[in-house]
Amino acid sequence: MKNIIFVCLGNICRSPLAQAIAEHKSKDFIFDSAGLSTYHQGELPHIYSQEVAQKRGISLKHIHSKPLSKNFSFDLLVCMDNANYEELIALGFDQKKIRKLGSFGMNGEDIPDPYYGGKEAFEQVYDMIERCIEKMLEELK
Ligand code: 4NP
Repeated sequence: MKNIIFVCLGNICRSPLAQAIAEHKSKDFIFDSAGLSTYHQGELPHIYSQEVAQKRGISLKHIHSKPLSKNFSFDLLVCMDNANYEELIALGFDQKKIRKLGSFGMNGEDIPDPYYGGKEAFEQVYDMIERCIEKMLEELK
């Protein structure tokens, strides 16, 4: 287990947070993130994701949205919600290498899309992601 890619729809709100939080907490893996759409390709993370992370001393400025492709090498894809999961299966990714982030310590709950919410939605999502990442790192070690 070496390469872990976090996946969401836009790769601007949830998966960049997951990547940066995981990078902050562990040097034992190579973390990356990607989106299931090209909507925001090349963009920095959402300003609210940047702000909630910055409040906790974490920068997202090294992350630019990119779409997931079959050329990525990975040991595990960690997605945010059921829609992501189903899309990954439909795209032909190996089910054995896909987990929902919420399956680490949150009974498989979705990490909800905060895109249409306010800053508070991003704060809640940050806390959920952080909790799950801690569980994920415990489980994988
Ligand atoms: P993310 O959030 O999947 O957590 O990056 C979204 C970002 C953009 C859109 C949807 C969700 N969008 O529809 O543009």
